[in-house]
Amino acid sequence: MTQVRKAVFPVAGLGSRFLPATKAQPKEMLPVVDKPLIQYAVEEAVAAGITDMVFITGRNKRAIEDHFDKAFELEAELEAAHKLELLEVIQNVIPKHINCIFIRQSSPLGLGHAVLCARPVVGEEPFAVLLADDFMDVDTGQKPVLAQMTEEYATHGASLLAVQDVPRANTRQYGIVSASPFADRLEKVSAIVEKPLPENAPSTLAVVGRYVLSGKIFAYLEKLGKGAGGEIQLTDGIAALMKDDPVLAYRYIGTRYDCGSKLGYLKAMFSMGLKHPELGEDFEAYVKESL
Ligand code: UTP
Repeated sequence: MTQVRKAVFPVAGLGSRFLPATKAQPKEMLPVVDKPLIQYAVEEAVAAGITDMVFITGRNKRAIEDHFDKAFELEAELEAAHKLELLEVIQNVIPKHINCIFIRQSSPLGLGHAVLCARPVVGEEPFAVLLADDFMDVDTGQKPVLAQMTEEYATHGASLLAVQDVPRANTRQYGIVSASPFADRLEKVSAIVEKPLPENAPSTLAVVGRYVLSGKIFAYLEKLGKGAGGEIQLTDGIAALMKDDPVLAYRYIGTRYDCGSKLGYLKAMFSMGLKHPELGEDFEAYVKESL
């Protein structure tokens, strides 16, 4: 099967770098201008033709479930107040043909464990994983990053990891791959290691929060013990999968903002503020005036 129909959104992390904002809500609900990070990620999945959205939620799951659910009272109030544009905005948070499925990760044992929680819904199919705190922006007219990847998957039928070059000093923040050229923007991965020290990193090619994975990975994730940081790591599952199944690194076209970090989040807010159709001009004037 080359069509990717399901996407997994792990949203059960602690988000400790963003406390206290994440005390009572997942970091994926933080807005960039006026839309939560998770909604941007879901829109990216919809644009890639995905119909089943599987959210792996944690202790603060309610905000995300509510965000993608019908809001009867709010809709009635907006209608009564004749705020029809806003009514449309909240009714179109997610297209009608999309299924949302919520699975609880009972404790945050790691990203690999979170992905494994999706197995009962995903089964043997290829699936996407989107980490919504990696906010991916593309230029007007450019395909969103996940759509670029599902297209590559349809051509090559191999698992894909979105990658970008990072400064060697930062390798400890990422999964890092060893890879050799395969095709335009694609490299064949021969090894992957989670959060290596700069001096041990096999390269500076870092995995970021977009994946298309073979359903075979679940069998490997199930057997994993704790890895780097005492967590069950998706990287270790990919390393095991790679022994039997090809894995490609894809140099995506676009700009990534690490919204799991405060600085990355501020940069995303700044760039999207400047691009915003209603606010952009005024915001730019304000920025110029302030500097
Ligand atoms: P991070 O490494 O960013 O961890 O997780 P975190 O806990 O969310 O944030 P900090 O480091 O404490 O600030 C990467 C992704 O994996 C999810 C997170 O929600 C995030 O999207 N995750 C991580 C889970 O869903 N479950 C886990 O057990 C761990």
